[in-house]
Amino acid sequence: MPHQGPVTGNNTVSLVNGLQRRLAQSARCAIFAAMAQSLTHQQLTALAQQFGTPLYVYHAEKIKEQYEALTAAFEKCNARFFYACKALTNPNILKYVQGLGAGLDCVSINEVKLGLRAGFTPDRILYTPNCVDFAEIEEGKALGVNLNIDNISVLEQFGNKYGSSYPICIRFNPHIMGGGHYKISTGHIDSKFGISVHQMRHIERIVKTTGLHVQGIHMHTGSDIKDVNVFLAGLEVMFELAAHFPELKFIDLGSGFKVPYHEDDVRTDVAVLGAQVCAAFAQYKKEKGKDLEVWFEPGKYLVSEAGYFITKCNVIKQTTATVFVGVNSGFNHLIRPMMYEAYHRIENISNPGGAPRIYTVVGNICETDTFAWDRKLPEVREGDYLVFYNAGAYGFEMSSNFNSRLKPAEVLVKEGEAQLIRKRDEFEDLLRNVVEA
Ligand SMILES: Cc1ncc(COP(=O)(O)O)c(C=O)c1O
Repeated sequence: MPHQGPVTGNNTVSLVNGLQRRLAQSARCAIFAAMAQSLTHQQLTALAQQFGTPLYVYHAEKIKEQYEALTAAFEKCNARFFYACKALTNPNILKYVQGLGAGLDCVSINEVKLGLRAGFTPDRILYTPNCVDFAEIEEGKALGVNLNIDNISVLEQFGNKYGSSYPICIRFNPHIMGGGHYKISTGHIDSKFGISVHQMRHIERIVKTTGLHVQGIHMHTGSDIKDVNVFLAGLEVMFELAAHFPELKFIDLGSGFKVPYHEDDVRTDVAVLGAQVCAAFAQYKKEKGKDLEVWFEPGKYLVSEAGYFITKCNVIKQTTATVFVGVNSGFNHLIRPMMYEAYHRIENISNPGGAPRIYTVVGNICETDTFAWDRKLPEVREGDYLVFYNAGAYGFEMSSNFNSRLKPAEVLVKEGEAQLIRKRDEFEDLLRNVVEA
């Protein structure tokens, strides 16, 4: 599609050009339907030209599609999904997810406040902090959100102060190794997260002596878990723990649903997982007479594939060993490759028919700053746009101003319209909180 629809609002650009506008209504629906799959090279190029690069683009309908896949997979049980907003907190995304009917999983009091601001009612927010000051937990209580406590000392303090007056959830560490990289594995014995399942006796003492009302138990073993058996093994542990809490209302199995980053990757089969989890809960109900809810906290699964990160090739640098593509970004904007050795599919959207060559794609940060090693791409020329796929989760959210570089803009494509949802940083932003002494 050659771009570039008219500007229809201050920051709004129609992705449907004049010719397409003149098509019959039915054809228009078909265009939107196609867009729910993936944004095309032409559409991404149009956005890069309109809004500049580097640029994060999010596709609302893809988030919806993912949310609906999850809810369908668990329709046979009493399931609730809380979007783990640490993946991407732009308030426009929060509002969109709120409108879909999901809840919100927060790890800081500021995420909680962003959630409330986006329209989530407190009962639809779960707050799971780790190593925070007790005052932050009390603030969550004052705001009326669901609290998830992951430390014995905090449990004791909370119980002593509030007793049975405010129901809580307890985060357990089930000692299950899950996750695609050690930095995103959280359920193992050396992890700082959760209270060990082996501390059950201590927890029971605290609950008994303080009168704490435990309405939920929680685990999260890591991200990028492709094997559904990891969740099922965790569920078995949780069912055993459930017997200790007569007032229990829900079991939260966290998240870690894998999405494919690499062409050969597989995603967590949520349909299989849903069928097995729902069957297990039905069996539990039959045996114990308790109809427990199952909660999940998907981050990546909802927003990763909805995100695109568009950069521009600044330089081609041929060394004795390597041909580098140097783009106008770096790990200050997308840290996952350097932080987790994460793979992001990259495409040259300006020259898709070019002859394939082997490149190492690097950023402009003054440190080793490699996005991808030995990647076969259609010939890249200086000025070409390169797109990083699956950039919606932990992309912009983990960005920084390292090297005094400016954070990128963010755009949301929804119902065929593209809207700027965060302006690109300006030089003044670097000085915003500086106090000149
Ligand atoms: C407690 C908790 N819940 C949910 C998530 C979201 O995980 P994912 O993005 O893999 O879905 C995380 C990720 O760090 C987490 O720590």
